[in-house]
Amino acid sequence: MNKVVVTGGIGYIGSHTVVSLIEKGITVVIVDNMINSNINTLDGIESITGVRPEFHDIDMTDGTLLHRFFDLHKDADAVIHFAALKAVGDSSQQPILYYRNNLFALINLIEGMQKHEISNLVFSSSATVYGTPDFLPITEDHPTKRGMSPYGNSKKIGEEIIEDTVNSAENFKAISLRYFNPIGAHPSYKIGESPNGVPNNLMPYVTQTAAGVRKELSIFGDDYNTPDGTAIRDYIHIVDLAEAHVKTVERLLEDQQKSNFEIFNLGTGQGKSVLEVIESFERMSGQKLPQKITDRRDGDVEQMYSSTERASNDLGWNSKLGLDEMTSSAWEWEKKNRKI
Ligand code: NAD
Ligand code: WQD
Repeated sequence: MNKVVVTGGIGYIGSHTVVSLIEKGITVVIVDNMINSNINTLDGIESITGVRPEFHDIDMTDGTLLHRFFDLHKDADAVIHFAALKAVGDSSQQPILYYRNNLFALINLIEGMQKHEISNLVFSSSATVYGTPDFLPITEDHPTKRGMSPYGNSKKIGEEIIEDTVNSAENFKAISLRYFNPIGAHPSYKIGESPNGVPNNLMPYVTQTAAGVRKELSIFGDDYNTPDGTAIRDYIHIVDLAEAHVKTVERLLEDQQKSNFEIFNLGTGQGKSVLEVIESFERMSGQKLPQKITDRRDGDVEQMYSSTERASNDLGWNSKLGLDEMTSSAWEWEKKNRKI
């Protein structure tokens, strides 16, 4: 049976991926310091899969602790590295915190893996590395740009660190996954997204507004050059995204790579506007969402959506779930989580 270490495994994307891995019969070991997550997520994972994965409360910026961890798990076949701080605005206020956390954790991880001869790494990257797109849909060959925030830049630098490592070591292989906008929750509604504090992202802000936790949703700009004037993104269901990680691990373990460092975009290929997301949410939930139009948010891109060609052809992965399934599952999770 294969064993996969999942860092950040009780976070939003990590927990859904852990479920998909366990359902494939893979043994999962989680490393997370709970800086942006809750230990109760393990109960959700156990209740869905019947398996409670081994959990280690480790701050990955502590290399000594991480090395000790790998001494126990040197038989791991691969690592999926989700652990990072991810709040874009916050990263501009506290750049060193973000660079320190995201880059020290990655460097310690790679050192630990190399010392213990674990050679397969999956990295959580982001479509933010493309900056303002030069063309649409965005392919993996689209140029990357200096991140518009320290957070985004930590992803770009992270990819470069990994690429240099792969180029320097014959037996180190990696796949970087550039996520577009993951939303939604597991259909059991036992795990989902529950950000700490005021949400930065659209979907949790929508569900929290509908739940009465926030007064109203601000729509950041309706004067974009798009059909309804609001900005367009490629929203991807979290369960589809989780499945893509299983395919990625299989590709590494079965030596199917074309090169030792590969990059895949993970999106649906469908751009949806903020108003389309709200329309879907209101229709699926039966809730009228208090909302107002405000100025554009600094640093926001007008539109971005992914080319799905490479993920479909090489990874054998295609998204299956649509926007209605995303908004309805996000709402069901919000209600269940808040006991509404
Ligand atoms: P999340 O905050 O829910 O999960 C990240 C997890 O990492 C958390 O459980 C946190 O406690 C843990 N963590 C952070 N720093 C750590 C450290 N030093 N040591 C140990 N654990 C640590 O975020 P998510 O949405 O699940 O994102 C997962 C990954 O995907 C991140 O790398 C993020 O940058 C990337 N990503 C997310 C999105 C998105 O919209 N959610 C989009 C693109 C990329
Ligand atoms: C989506 C759309 C907003 C909130 C961010 C990161 C990116 C990636 C995903 C990690 C935009 C609009 C939002 C609100 C709104 N994360 N919006 N009112 O900005 O595409 O990407 O998360 O890597 O790096 O930058 O996602 O969910 O914040 O916004 O109108 O209250 O919703 O303007 O058009 P974004 P988002």
